[in-house]
Amino acid sequence: MTSSPYDLVKRLNNKLLIGGKLVAPLSKKSFPVINPATMDVIGEAAEAHEADVDLAVQTARKAQHDWRHMDAAKRGHLVSKCADLLEEHADELARLMTLETGKALRTESQVETKIFANCFRFYGGLGLELKGETVPYSDTMLTLTIREPLGVVGAIIAWNVPLLLMSLKVAPALVAGNTVVIKSAEEAPYTVLRAAELMNTILPPGVLNMISGDGPTTGEALVKHPGIDKVTFTGSVETGKTIYKNISQKLIPVTLELGGKSPMIVCEDVDLEKAVDGALTSMRFTRQGQSCTAASRIFVHESIFDRFLEAMKKKLNGMKMGDPMDPETDIGSVISEGQYAKILKYIEIGKADGTAHTCSALPTDAKLSKGLFVQPVLFTGLPNSHQLCQEEIFGPVTALIPWTDFDEAIRQANDSEYGLAATIWTNNLKRALKGVHALEAGFVQVNQNVVVQPGLSYGGVKSSGLGKEASLEAMLEHFTHKKTIIFNMK
Ligand code: NAI
Ligand code: MG
Repeated sequence: MTSSPYDLVKRLNNKLLIGGKLVAPLSKKSFPVINPATMDVIGEAAEAHEADVDLAVQTARKAQHDWRHMDAAKRGHLVSKCADLLEEHADELARLMTLETGKALRTESQVETKIFANCFRFYGGLGLELKGETVPYSDTMLTLTIREPLGVVGAIIAWNVPLLLMSLKVAPALVAGNTVVIKSAEEAPYTVLRAAELMNTILPPGVLNMISGDGPTTGEALVKHPGIDKVTFTGSVETGKTIYKNISQKLIPVTLELGGKSPMIVCEDVDLEKAVDGALTSMRFTRQGQSCTAASRIFVHESIFDRFLEAMKKKLNGMKMGDPMDPETDIGSVISEGQYAKILKYIEIGKADGTAHTCSALPTDAKLSKGLFVQPVLFTGLPNSHQLCQEEIFGPVTALIPWTDFDEAIRQANDSEYGLAATIWTNNLKRALKGVHALEAGFVQVNQNVVVQPGLSYGGVKSSGLGKEASLEAMLEHFTHKKTIIFNMK
């Protein structure tokens, strides 16, 4: 049975999920959750303080023993069953996510819930891949390695794709035999809580616990808790650095998925229509550009620059911004007043030095009059060195930069603090190959820009982070350690 998002919010109000049950926080504290498309307060989420974090971590520790000693294939089987259940509830999860994030239901939330369930399904099949090796050390010795779980994983996620981020952390951690305490983002606590609740009808109690609260109170308490053996985080570079610093005192492993300023290089020989569609999806305009891989620097060959700009404007003008729940809507609202102000500030900074091409139209619906809607802006006339091309905006703002020399375009693409994703658009194989080798990024695609795909390692270099996600290697390298064993039979 699926429930309406409003009924779900009522039930999930002011609750944490610890030991398989929805519980009120010991802190007795809560914080408002807002629908950014209307600015209505939709409910109050529980704010976990130190005692709540401690209870969640202790509960996960108690569940650790039985979970790690369960056959790996059986753990995988349970995670696969979670995938089926989450898929059955995809529609209700998508609606709940749209309600609390303002992301358009058809173009964003429904797409994300599918990838999210697939990610659980992918990892669910990998239980028997937690293999070690034998080492040819001596005929009279048996020397081998085995993979063991790390223990209790603390996962901290952002609000832009809450379910996807949850799956990238929880699925590999669980299949590898770890138990988990996950902290949702302040802006989007309910969807993750509902998903965790559904999973807890399948998983043994205490294996997956969910807490909500802010960064300094809840997040820091989780990172610093002595019972946490590994932290995995997605969010800003600044918070990533704070977490890294706090973790350094505990000597435990950490995975950090941070920001990006991803370049897209468009050569003169491309199929223009295809590349323009690629630019629109790469920039995640349907998500108001709130993506760490957003193609926020588009380097277009000078000879097709004007045509490319016009075609982008035309397509963006045809996209409908409006009520995120309406299936006709292509683009919803941005997440919060803070992000809204940040994006508008960057648009002003850009306008001072370049030309702003503002596209699409703000919604006219009276019930959305207070909503946080931002029109997509394409900037021209700004060099790559400009602040707008160097800093992550996390909004529907991108810069188009003309080029004539391919090597120079690559040099500028690499002239960035970030190195998450990059795309090259060309039918010239030689150039494409040169580009994929030269670009400083963890994920490089030619003539397409797919989102995170279960099976393909995803993660950045430079300030974009540490470690990989979404693949078998990610599970092995980031959620297990290798134990070396020697039997001497001489
Ligand atoms: P943030 O990095 O502050 O928050 C992400 C998560 O970290 C949230 O769950 C938050 O509660 C938690 N957190 C914050 N401080 C913490 C601390 N000291 N210890 C432990 N956990 C902590 O990101 P925020 O404020 O939501 O967005 C700010 C900017 O970050 C955005 O404008 C965007 O540029 C970037 N960002 C990047 C994302 C990505 O996917 N790489 C996702 C979200 C934001
Ligand atoms: Mg913050």
